[in-house]
Amino acid sequence: MPRILIVDDEANIRKLLAGVLSDEGYETEDAPTGEEAVDRLRAAPGDIDAVILDLALPGMNGLEVLETIQKHPVSPVVLMMSGHGTIETAVQATKKGAFDFIEKPLSPDKLLILLKNALHLRSLESDNAALLDKLGRRNEMLGESEPMQRLQEEIRKAGASQARILILGENGTGKELAARAIHDISPRASEPFVRLNCAAIPRDLIESELFGHEKGAFTGATAQKRGKFELARGGTLFLDEIGDMSLDTQAKLLRVLEENEMERVGGTETIALDARVVAATNKNLPQEIANGDFREDLYFRLAVITLQIPALRERGPDIVRLAERFLRQYCEENGRRIKELTPAASALLSQYHWPGNVRELRNMMERLVIMHDELVVDAEHLSPLFLSTSPDDEHPLLTGTLRENLESYERRTIEKALAASEGNIARAARALGLDRANLHRKLRRFGLVKRRADDPEP
Ligand SMILES: Nc1ncnc2c1ncn2[C@@H]1O[C@H](COP(=O)(O)OP(=O)(O)OP(=O)(O)O)[C@@H](O)[C@H]1O
Ligand SMILES: [Mg+2]
Repeated sequence: MPRILIVDDEANIRKLLAGVLSDEGYETEDAPTGEEAVDRLRAAPGDIDAVILDLALPGMNGLEVLETIQKHPVSPVVLMMSGHGTIETAVQATKKGAFDFIEKPLSPDKLLILLKNALHLRSLESDNAALLDKLGRRNEMLGESEPMQRLQEEIRKAGASQARILILGENGTGKELAARAIHDISPRASEPFVRLNCAAIPRDLIESELFGHEKGAFTGATAQKRGKFELARGGTLFLDEIGDMSLDTQAKLLRVLEENEMERVGGTETIALDARVVAATNKNLPQEIANGDFREDLYFRLAVITLQIPALRERGPDIVRLAERFLRQYCEENGRRIKELTPAASALLSQYHWPGNVRELRNMMERLVIMHDELVVDAEHLSPLFLSTSPDDEHPLLTGTLRENLESYERRTIEKALAASEGNIARAARALGLDRANLHRKLRRFGLVKRRADDPEP
């Protein structure tokens, strides 16, 4: 049910309104001053759906409160209340973005109708935003390669069910995108998709984030707050980076998932769970379980279905397609003419191992659009942009001839052995399985020591 904040300095008006609204099933909170109202909204933005706001308040007045509220990215709809002398100001308030105003003495019926319209408008607006999001295909998951086709098919099947899903994949492979895709094709698509990043939230706050808290549950809990489970009611709760959740919180989450109900922190009221849980991690959970860092029973609760997002390096032709797509997108956004990749540049992109996956590719194309002025992008323009030259720097990028590659590989191996033996050639030779004379020859050939007159040219 929508939650309404009543702001009026007169206690009997607050009481009257709270009564009328809760009879209609609304949840209410109240504040006697503008300052307190602003604090309340700041404590949990997005938690209040509408504010009924008196114009004539002591201290910060209604108009000032309105202006402050509207600066928030997620602001509730505002209905103003005005006495006789303040109608002019109330009109001004609607010009500043208040939905409407109502005159005192209040007519409860009229107020309820206005409120209903205001909330309806707000829900239309958010539907509209969601629609634009879809039309703009901001969240489109691209990929025609075989592993991506398979994934799309799995998402279609799993998404349509109500089952809990665990998404696995390396950094930047598109786990969040997959979670949104699951939500979008599920029967819950018109309800909220709520994300909680378990890694980004301090340990002592995560339970309150998940389950909400009651006013006074701990120092700093100045108002009741709904948790993500409640905010996602009817929809999907996406628990991102679940592998980073502490064992304590894991135990509590497990209990809630088993019982399908929960209490807010510091509360006694039992709240039924109605959020589909989708979780994701880039960690190797079986390994975490073996180490005692992740509960096996929780793993089984979360992973009714497991989706593995393939690494970008496994997606073959998708790499170049995605690169071209991102290039086009960033060129358009930056008002540049569209750049093209030469075959050599495409080949280089295809061979690279992409430790940062799609995110790395996307960022690379963005940097390229900003930093590179020419219309044609060749391999040499790309090389400096790679995050790392190779997996653990063992294998150099394979662009040259076979002979060049073998030589550079040989040279690196020798350099490593020498570093490990702290320059002791006899030891390095033993480690490499060469005799000393042979290693000496190679060192000279690679210019690692001075060349002798009788050595062959490199
Ligand atoms: N298949 C895809 N098509 C288009 N864009 C994609 C695709 N996969 C990922 N992206 C883009 O790559 C970036 C990273 O995706 P996302 O945040 O979903 O990855 P992640 O797996 O959650 O990463 P992390 O492990 O770092 O949290 C986003 O900008 C996303 O839009
Ligand atoms: Mg992510």
